[in-house]
Formats: sequence, structure tokens, C-alpha cells
Amino acid sequence: MRTADIRSRFLDYFAARGHTMVPSAPLPTPDPTLLFVNAGMVPFKPYLTGEQEAPWPRATSVQKCVRTLDIEEVGKTTRHGSFFQMNGNFSLGDYFKHEAIAYAWDLSTTAQADGGYGLDPDRIWVTVHHSDDESRSIWREVADLPDERIVARGDEDNFWSMGVPGPCGPCSELYYDRGPALGREGGPAVDEDRYMEFWNLVFMQYERGEGPGKSGYPILGELPRRNIDTGMGLERMATLLQGVDNLYEIDETRPILDRAADLAAVRYGADPQADVRLRVVADHVRTALMLLADGTSPGNEGRGYVLRRILRRAVRSMRQLGHQEPVLGELLAVARDCMAPSYPEVADAYARIADQAQGEEDAFRATLKQGTTVLDTAVTQAKQEGGRTLPGAQAFLLHDTYGFPIDLTLEMAAEQGIEVDRDGFTALMNDQRERARADARARKSGGTTDTTALRALLDAHGPTDWQAWTALTTESSVLGILGTAGPVPVAREGEIVTIVLDRSPFYAESGGQDSDAGRLSTANAEAEVLDVQRPLPGLIAHQVRVTAGELSPDDRVIAAVDPEWRLGARQAHSGTHVLHAALRETLGPTALQSGSYNRPGHLRLDFPWRGALSPTVRSEIEEAANRALRKDLPVGVRWMTLPEAKEIGALALFDETYGEKVRVVEIGGAWSRELCGGTHVEHASQIGTVALTGESSVGAGMRRLEAAVGIEGFNYLARERDLVTALAAQVGAPRAELPEKIAALLDRLKTTDRENARLKAQATTARARELTGTATDVNGVQVVTTTVEGDAEEARALATAVRDLLPAAAPGTVAVATAKGIAVVALNQAARERGLDASALIKALLDGRGGGSAELAQGGGLPADRVTGTLASLPRLITTGH
Ligand code: ALA
Repeated sequence: MRTADIRSRFLDYFAARGHTMVPSAPLPTPDPTLLFVNAGMVPFKPYLTGEQEAPWPRATSVQKCVRTLDIEEVGKTTRHGSFFQMNGNFSLGDYFKHEAIAYAWDLSTTAQADGGYGLDPDRIWVTVHHSDDESRSIWREVADLPDERIVARGDEDNFWSMGVPGPCGPCSELYYDRGPALGREGGPAVDEDRYMEFWNLVFMQYERGEGPGKSGYPILGELPRRNIDTGMGLERMATLLQGVDNLYEIDETRPILDRAADLAAVRYGADPQADVRLRVVADHVRTALMLLADGTSPGNEGRGYVLRRILRRAVRSMRQLGHQEPVLGELLAVARDCMAPSYPEVADAYARIADQAQGEEDAFRATLKQGTTVLDTAVTQAKQEGGRTLPGAQAFLLHDTYGFPIDLTLEMAAEQGIEVDRDGFTALMNDQRERARADARARKSGGTTDTTALRALLDAHGPTDWQAWTALTTESSVLGILGTAGPVPVAREGEIVTIVLDRSPFYAESGGQDSDAGRLSTANAEAEVLDVQRPLPGLIAHQVRVTAGELSPDDRVIAAVDPEWRLGARQAHSGTHVLHAALRETLGPTALQSGSYNRPGHLRLDFPWRGALSPTVRSEIEEAANRALRKDLPVGVRWMTLPEAKEIGALALFDETYGEKVRVVEIGGAWSRELCGGTHVEHASQIGTVALTGESSVGAGMRRLEAAVGIEGFNYLARERDLVTALAAQVGAPRAELPEKIAALLDRLKTTDRENARLKAQATTARARELTGTATDVNGVQVVTTTVEGDAEEARALATAVRDLLPAAAPGTVAVATAKGIAVVALNQAARERGLDASALIKALLDGRGGGSAELAQGGGLPADRVTGTLASLPRLITTGH
């Protein structure tokens, strides 16, 4: 059965049993505890914890997941994939254990002809949590399983959580016996390769807190309702139903593996080590395709870094297989054909995906070249110093500055018989990571690091009544004040604190739009709002500086957004949408915004593109944007379901959280349609002006456009105009003729420079000729000294000209020229044969301040008169050498 069929069979089965089909969320998740969705339940987390009312009692989905914690295992075991799809059925306070178990058993064992997967019931084993007698008896009853095939296991195996605070509970897993050829008898506790887990049923009942590992955390309490979260590994079911050995050999990955083997001219199955590499390539190429399709771009941090690492590991594995040429283009196209039946978006976005991957591969190839040189130097140095270990700091530098992966450093150092101080490297990496994490934590929580206190406020008072779309000012109550480390009873003048209000008109930074500026005031206190964030869904946190008086919890405040700031913010955000539409109108749909930032007056927008935009293209984009402003296109906001939004072509730019309804911002109807939570103008002419101020590269295959908007757009253009006016006045030409006038001036300058140089050379030769007549004999050597008016270059030209004009043959010539605090010594071969050395002479003349070659040397650093004065000692130096 094809993977795409297994997928749709699952959805159909649960839809027929009252489950709402929910499309897969994009891989990058707004959940602050994760980079990517790593389980089917992640998009449902707020419903599972009870934080949000679930829109449906039952749901089913096939969720794209990425897990890279086990990335080293990929290719080595039969069942670890960095990308996988999790089929899930969810009960949100509806059914519980009995139905969950019955559904899983029924779908797994019903014959394929009747819509099931047709697994042999006699080969299915299950596990239950050792405390869960209820599940054990349900299994007996529903599946008629003998006791020995219901295995009890502890927390490590049968208690599931996301690995971070959130919902959790005991679970029951289904395993399939793949037969004695694959391992020992005895069930999943004995061999997880032979007995492959394919479905996990989690009975979500509790909420867990912070803590390490699979059991080192506290249970905070029961969830408001009992839920079901199940996960059937789509790739694992495909492995079973397609009768292949491992999940890299199923229909969605095998063609990639085969193409990789072709390219590298190796045969899969011939050499275990090569097989692992082929599987890594197949897995990673598919993961990269899916991440790129969902808008992640390779980068140096967070999600971008994960993607970069995956792309690089794929390229590197191909190199280890002996294939040195670029490969990603070819392999990604195969992956696209495998995945497009279930995910048409990978075909739609393919041009952009291929382009980005190509850019990354090119950059990596360049990195390999450069890093290899640096590594070789470091290794040579370590060897010269008698060491056998490359210092951790070197490995860190290679990683941090040259983007050279540590595994590569290890491997290449080993090839040269050298070890790497891994602990030193890890310590430096950890320092760096911790710094970045602390920064990010403090920033996301609006200043405080105490997220538990924020959570307590949210639990106690519910979500902030957020009015940014409708009001600039609200009357609000202070619910809590937090210092960096936790709640404080009062905030005094000069202090910076985080404040949670019951109601707020402030826009919290998101979707690229910076947070609002403004003030909180009471009769006798005033605070300036510095930053506004949404650290937890529904909770707005204001970082403020108290500028007068004191603020305490329960104070009534007027919360007021600065209206001018907000107007600027609306112009900048609408301006970003306009520029994005103009960009796509000009360059085509692959120029899809991959990141943006806007604040009053300014915006920037990143998009994948190879190479710089020409001035003509930039003008075209700017013109298209301003045309929309001139047409005064209407700006509108509509709420609709995600499928409806997709249907009308609205662009979803990935870092948004999608509720049941999404907010679509339109400019000129279909001209610009984006899912967006930002604040906007009402019609395009209110934006004022969009003036491009910059276009640059931000990493491989990624460009950045910057623009000034509104009054800043006007100011920018006005400054340019003033500059042109000033230039025109300066060169004395009408503005329209400026380019020709400046070209003519530059041309004349070049001619004059050439003429000048020629005259100077002539003058030097003439003066040198004169000077040769002044040569004095010092101990048989002809010596000429002079002082010039000009600079060091002139002194050098003159000294060498004199030397070259005097006869080259014995007895030897020394010419010395001084100029404003410097001296130059030039001497010829004959003088050298008499033991003279220009560099030694200059050092002796100028107390060591100078140097050069034996025939031409220069020095300085003494007051001008002292330099001239030293010439008196020249005859002695030539005669005696000191
Ligand atoms: N959330 C459960 C898992 O990921 C189903 O295994």
C-alpha cells in the first residue's frame, strides 16, 4: 500500500467516526518551547491543556513532524527519521481509553479490502503502563489478546510527554512482530527492531512541570478534562505494509536513495557503511525539502541552523560516498516527486526551494574549501608545537567563524592523526548557547525571566482583553508587576519592570511588526512603554520604565498608545505588504517573503533570490509599489477559515498561529492577500511613500530590501534631492547634466594626473642629474645626500634615480634623500659588495626606526630637523660601520 493511501485511509476512517479533519500545521511552530512541530498533538496543545476551548470534540490529522535530537541515529537504525508524518486521532474531553484502543485495533486489523490496514492480529503486541490495569483489561476485552502479549512497562517507556512542560499521561503502544529473521523472540521489551512500534495511544490526564529526562519532572495536577492523543507513525506503517526492512526504503524515500546511489556509483546493500550514508542522504533530502517548503531558510541560529545542518550533512554524506559534484538539485527533484501527491505545496514552491538549496550548497562548498585551509594550518601548527590535540578554541573558531561543522573537524583532524579537544569545544558552544538563550528568554517575556509568574497571572485572570485593532487608549488595571526575577509589590521611578494589565491597546511584537510605543499613567505616576510581547498565548506583557511616581498591582491606569507612532506603524506594515506584492509582481511568485520587520518609517523584507537586483529591477519594484499607493487601493480585513483563505490565494507566512478563523489582510482585493495579525491603514494612499533605501545580501540565496515609508520616505527622497542640488551647485551644472559633467570632470582629472606624474618623473630625473654632480667621495664610495620638499614617495623616487644614474660599477654609490621627518637610503650592488646595507644604514641613522631591503630602505619617526641632522653622521657610518 502506498504511503499516500495509508494516510488517506487513516483520515477517512476517523472522519467517518465523527472526527474533524484538521490539516497539518506548518513545521515551524510558534510554540516557544519548540523549533519544529515534533508530534501530532503540538498544534492541539492549547486544547489539550484546557488553555483554549477546543472547537471540536474529536479531530484527526496527519501532521508533518521534524525531530533532530536523534539525528546521529538516522540511517543506523531501521526506524529513526528526521522528518516523519504522524497520523493522529484526538479526543478533546470526549471519548477516552476504551474507544481509543478499540479504534486502533479495528483500523490496524480490519482487512485492506474493507478499508483497514490488514495487519495480522496474532503478530500484534501491546504495552501498557504498569499501573494501568484498566487498559490491560480493555485490551483483553477488545482484542482478545493473551496476557503475555500485553506487556507492562514503567515511566521510561509508557508515560508520554512532549519532553517539556505540558500535557502528559500514561500510554499504550502497539507493536508488530516482523518475524524471527529480524531479531530475538520475546516481545518489544527484548527487541524493538523485530517488534516495531507503530502506534502510540496517550491517555492525557496530567500536566507536567520543568524537569529532565523522561521521568524527572513533577506532575503539577490533573488536566481539566481527560483527552486522547494518538500517534501512528506513517512511515513505520508503510514499512510494515510495504514489506521493506526500514523506513528509508518506503515509496516516499527509496527513489531518493536510489538516485543517490546512482550518482555516487555505489550499490545499495553492498557495504554497510555506504548504506548508512545513502539512508542519511535519503532522509535528509526529504526533510530539507519539507522544511524549505514550509518557509524555513538555512541560517546560523534556531530553525535555520537545523536546516543548514541537514542540508550540509546530505552534501557531506555524498562526498563521503565519493561524489564531489553538486547534488541537491537532482535529489530534491526526486524528493518532490515522492512528496507532491500528499503535499502539493512542495511542487508549487519548488523553484524557490531548489534555488535556496542550490545557494546553500554553493556556500557550503566554498566553506569546505576555506575551512579546510584553516584547519590544515591549525593542524600543522599543533603538530609543530609537538601537540597531538587541536585546541577546543580552534574547533570553535572553525565552527563559529567559518561555519565548519564539528563532525567534519573531528573527522579531518583524525585523518591527520590529531585529536580534537572536544570538551573545550563543547564548553565554548554551551557558553554561547546559554548567552543566546538567556537573551531570547528575557526578550520573549517582555523583560522578565519568570514565566511561571506570567503563567500564574494568566491562570488567575484569563487572557488579556486585547484591543490593539480597535482602540488607542484603554482604562486598565495592573494585574501584576514583575522584576527580572519575579513578582514585585511596587515599581518605583527609574525602574524597568514587566507589567501585565487586564486590558491593553498595545500591539505586541509579532508578524514582523514592532511593538507599540506609548505610556501608562495614573493620577501621580507615569511609565514609558519600552516593549510589548506575548510570552504566552493570550497574555500581553509590557516592559516599561517608570518615569514618575510609583506603580503597584491593582492600580488603575490609562494605557495609551502614542497615536503618531501607531500611524507610522500602520503605514510601515501596510507598506511591507505593498512592497511584497510589488516584488512578486515584478520577480514572480518565488520571491516569497521569508522574514520581515517594520516600525514607523522603516521596513525590511527578506526573500530568497540568487544574485543582486539590478538598478532597473529595483526601480520597477519601487514603481509597482508606488503605483498601488497612487491608485489608493482599499485595505480590508476579513476573517475566514484557513481553507477559505488558501482558496482565495492568501499567503500564509509561517510564523503565525492559526486559530479556527484566520485574519486576511487584503490590499486592492486579490492584488495583495496575506494572513496577518498586524495593524494597517485603511487605504493605500495613507502609506504616503515607499522609497527603497537598500538592497543587500543576507546569507546564501537570500536578499533584503529596505525601504523608508510615510514621512520618512519623503524625508529620504528630500535628502537625496538636497544632495543633488548641492552637487549641482558645486560642479556648476544644471542637475540634468550632472552625470555627464561629473564624468567629464573625472576624465579630466585622470588626464591631469597622468600629466602630473609625467612632469614629476621628468623633474626627478633632472634634479637627480644635478645631484650626481654633488657626489662626494667617502672612503671610496660616492655619496649623495639631499632634502626634498615633497613626501616619502618623492624622496624614494629621487634617491633611487640618483643611485641609478651614477655608474653601477665600483666603487659604489649611496644616495640618501630626506623629507619631512623621513629618510630613504638607496645603494647599488657595488656598494653592497663593499659590505654596505641600506637597511642597516637607515637603522643606524635613525636609532633603529626603519627598515627595508639591503638596497632600498626607509625610516622615520624623528623630528624633521633631527632627521636632516643625522645625515652628518653618514660619512662616519660608511667608513667605520658605526
Ligand atoms: N504524542 C504521542 C507521540 O508522539 C502520540 O508518540
